[in-house]
Amino acid sequence: MRQRRQHRTLARLLGSLVLVAAAGLTSIGASAPPSAAGAPRPLGQIVPAPASVTAGGSAYTIGSATVIRVAAGSPETQRIGDYLAAVLRPSTGYALPVTGGAGADGIRLLLGAGDKALGDEGYRLTSSNGAVTVTANQPAGLFHGVQTLRQLLPAAVEKKGKQPGPWKIAGGTITDWPRYAYRGAMLDVSRHFFGVDQVKRYIDQLALYKINTLHLHLSDDQGWRIAVDSWPRLAGYGGQTQVGGGKGGSYTKADYQAIIAYASAHYLRVVPEIDTPGHTNAALASYAELNCNGVAPPLYTGTNVGFSSLCVAKAVTYKFLDDVVREIAAMTPGPYLHIGGDEAHSTPHSDYVAFMDKVQPIVQKYGKTVMAWHEITGATPVQGAIAQYWGTLGNEAQVAAAAKAGTKLVMSPANHAYLDMKYDAKSPLGTSWAGYVDVDKSYAWDPATFVKGVPAGAVLGVEAPIWSETLTNSSQIEYMAFPRLPGIAEIGWSPVSTHDWASYKVRLAQQGPRFTALGINYYRSPVVPWV
Ligand code: ACM
Repeated sequence: MRQRRQHRTLARLLGSLVLVAAAGLTSIGASAPPSAAGAPRPLGQIVPAPASVTAGGSAYTIGSATVIRVAAGSPETQRIGDYLAAVLRPSTGYALPVTGGAGADGIRLLLGAGDKALGDEGYRLTSSNGAVTVTANQPAGLFHGVQTLRQLLPAAVEKKGKQPGPWKIAGGTITDWPRYAYRGAMLDVSRHFFGVDQVKRYIDQLALYKINTLHLHLSDDQGWRIAVDSWPRLAGYGGQTQVGGGKGGSYTKADYQAIIAYASAHYLRVVPEIDTPGHTNAALASYAELNCNGVAPPLYTGTNVGFSSLCVAKAVTYKFLDDVVREIAAMTPGPYLHIGGDEAHSTPHSDYVAFMDKVQPIVQKYGKTVMAWHEITGATPVQGAIAQYWGTLGNEAQVAAAAKAGTKLVMSPANHAYLDMKYDAKSPLGTSWAGYVDVDKSYAWDPATFVKGVPAGAVLGVEAPIWSETLTNSSQIEYMAFPRLPGIAEIGWSPVSTHDWASYKVRLAQQGPRFTALGINYYRSPVVPWV
């Protein structure tokens, strides 16, 4: 498994302290009363918790005459209306026509909220007996409002066959916007390869919890997963196996663009990662000239880390990276390109610094913002670079110093946010180098304060990575991601004032039937009071 064991005991100890602190909160948490049969779900009982909820007034009931009204002349709003209709039609059995015709009734999805506080991703949802109206400044906000609307309906709304209803949305107003601009999930498609349909399935699940970033870990020792025309053996040879020796795979450019289009339609940006200078055995195996000794190593199907390095002294290394970055940047509409930089244990430190000094400007040359794992803070991050923190201790002075000097942070503390950590000793999947991470522990942290000395304004957001050494299919990904992913999504979206395990675990428990209705395989953690 991943061999990052240096601080394991201390991390475990800190983890237990966090659990004790979290347990102390239960005395102040109020559980929501279970709703009576046929009564609408209480307005705020969703994940992530909304910024502001004012409940009151009569509920809206979706019926056979309900129309979905979208802004006239806005194809994007029309598409969001069609998306909502596709969720609601099979289970309700209603026609739910989507129309640009104005009207005060029905489900109304409107742009022009006229409320700056909502930003680009926020929305307002108002429900009464005449209509449910979602307004936003931007389509992304409408899309997030639609996710809220889904969760306000009974879980059976997610089923593919007709259900009895009734389909009520409690009266009142939700005004909601995200705490952080970056709310990500990472999928490691290198240790095991996951095809386009598997990635789309994960995107569907991420969108439900208002995640807006999909980070794809596209290369590692065990496989190179994206076609690069100027270096065809990367995918053609370096992509043909995976952990355990299976056949692996890689995305054609059309595949990658299909993932990006699907992600964009769900208001997620894609962050491609090409991990360098370590984690590069698949590339080194594909091209002998990339190795300092000119000899290509064999393909690798084990799970060790830290044994491979690009050749920092060779000019061809930078020609290679210029080509790879150029081709991937050209296909990627999002602003970020991730260059890895973690666990470069086979790259001498001075080489690592020199390497990063050469590679970061390549990323900038092709119009992208540099993203890298937090080890980049031991080199010289360029202006505007983003470091992704994956430590467990929160006392890394080097990370704090970089943040004070302007490097932004995305927070993925492994002992809370890594979805591949085992829940407990009995977990059949996952690894445990950062300790066991049950659902309460994954929720028990604050991105703004996790690393000592980091200014709160340096934190761009959160990300939940899932590494795939032990994971081979969607069902296994889901078992590890659910139910922890919604908690990381909530930490990224919801105001810190709403952060409370005692109330969160009740809202999370109510997601169980929704997971089931959606066919999501999830871990029935004993710390959650499942309904
Ligand atoms: C990492 O887990 N090596 C980023």
